[in-house]
Amino acid sequence: MKIIITGPKGVGKTTIGKKIAKLLDVPFYDTDEEIENIFNSEKPTHLKCRDIYKIDKIHFRELEEQAVCNLAQKNYCIISTGGSTILNPKSRNILRNNSIIVFLDAEDNLLWGRMQLKGLPQFFETTDGRQKHEEKNEQLRNTVKPIADICIQIEKDKESGIHRKIAENICEYLAARSSNPNTIGEILRVTTFGESHGEAVGAVIDGVKSGIELNEEDIQVELNKRKPAQSIISSERNEKDEVKILSGIFEGKTTGAPICLMIENTNQNSQVYEKFKNTFRPGHADFTFWKKFGLRDYRGGGRASGRETVARTAAGAVAKKILSEEFGVSIIAFAEEIAGIRGYIEDLSFIEKNAVRAADTQKWEQMLDAVLKAKSEGDSVGGIVKLIVKNLSAGIGDPVFGKLDSKLAAAIMSIGSVKGIEFGEGFLSTRLTGKENNDEMADGKFLSNHCGGILGGISNGEDIVMRIAVKPTPSILKKQHTISENGENTDISVAGQHDACIVPRIIPVIESMAALTILECININEALGR
Ligand SMILES: Cc1cc2nc3c(=O)[nH]c(=O)nc-3n(C[C@H](O)[C@H](O)[C@H](O)COP(=O)(O)O)c2cc1C
Repeated sequence: MKIIITGPKGVGKTTIGKKIAKLLDVPFYDTDEEIENIFNSEKPTHLKCRDIYKIDKIHFRELEEQAVCNLAQKNYCIISTGGSTILNPKSRNILRNNSIIVFLDAEDNLLWGRMQLKGLPQFFETTDGRQKHEEKNEQLRNTVKPIADICIQIEKDKESGIHRKIAENICEYLAARSSNPNTIGEILRVTTFGESHGEAVGAVIDGVKSGIELNEEDIQVELNKRKPAQSIISSERNEKDEVKILSGIFEGKTTGAPICLMIENTNQNSQVYEKFKNTFRPGHADFTFWKKFGLRDYRGGGRASGRETVARTAAGAVAKKILSEEFGVSIIAFAEEIAGIRGYIEDLSFIEKNAVRAADTQKWEQMLDAVLKAKSEGDSVGGIVKLIVKNLSAGIGDPVFGKLDSKLAAAIMSIGSVKGIEFGEGFLSTRLTGKENNDEMADGKFLSNHCGGILGGISNGEDIVMRIAVKPTPSILKKQHTISENGENTDISVAGQHDACIVPRIIPVIESMAALTILECININEALGR
């Protein structure tokens, strides 16, 4: 993502752009400078843009497109670009991609006055120069304003602090954009789509670099871990969950284009939900969706359904593969506790060998029995998932609002039924003393990992260790009190295709959200050259 500052000549794009870049601590580039750099590296000259243009207009346009292509590769930076560049449709389209366009404008009088002070460009040094200037400005306003994300009118000359105002506008815009609830990430942007009982669910992943080998099998292995009807305790909804890659791959490799992953819904039984059409199921998002949107897709919970997490798992499989192959990072989660029965043995090779995905070779059966008992009683149970990230180098994550732990928590808390998260000793650390809780150091390493691998929001090179609380499945056969949309009291018993415990099937989803977040943070580090 980059910020393009544009506007008519004399508006102060370069001066203001440089100040914003300094304020936000990101690099600054100028398309004119880039054109001059390319030209002057071809020939040993020190010509300015206006002279290069005079020598050969066609070559100038080629250089301009080349400059734009070079700058389009940059991320997290400010690019100031002149009117003629942004009026070129090809350059405009390249610049628009993955950027925020800020259009600075001012009254023609002010702009003309400023240009006269600096010395008019040759192009405007004619009797009709003023008119030409105004026509050019008009053309620019008509073409660029409609596509600009932020338009700023510069009122006075030498307005001090204007760069601060613009930076604030950019931050507000970014905050509003990132509040789009169906998309996560800035560099690696993942949008999930689809409802529980619609045609399909899936994800569009934008920002994966080109040349990574990827096929459907890479994704399918992860989906198979999440899919329903895989054991005696999971939902009977018999979905194959076969992924189709619709775009972004050519000859087995990523092309850098958005990757669209689609998984068809084939075994939905919407009829069961007819009877809940006007009634709110306790523990579900029915009441809140209805309050917020005035309507709701009552068939299986719509977007709030666990089914949406198929899409996250598919996208996460891509992130997991990149993390493992390019950075040697592995992510593994397992059921540490179910229905209050806690496992202590951590045999990671045992996770895929038992129905509850526990790592404890002895306690798993007790956990399974607790789930089966709850199921036979028409009830459900919850539990705790432990997640471990291995081999993540120190230095990933940022201070203050970019903290790795806050980003991981936000991503994992966005999964339905997750109710709590702790890192390292977490809540237990409140009962330890500083001496007990601190991770002392000797011989160039940490002597313990009470902090869970993150200090000050930045990875410290130790394993990242998290524990995630998962609530009992809300859909239960047991009779419960509720109300209808008309506010009448009624009773409800929720039959349907359900998990008696969400823990085993949420594990690949949690791993996926962690993978997407960590890859995003690595990308941010690389983009900022840290
Ligand atoms: C993988 C997965 C599977 C789920 N399966 C079910 C289910 O079978 N029945 C059910 O009632 N809720 C299920 N849920 C939980 C609901 O999606 C979630 O609890 C509900 O939308 C309310 O959201 P909240 O718990 O975040 O408040 C599942 C969640 C996940 C992540």
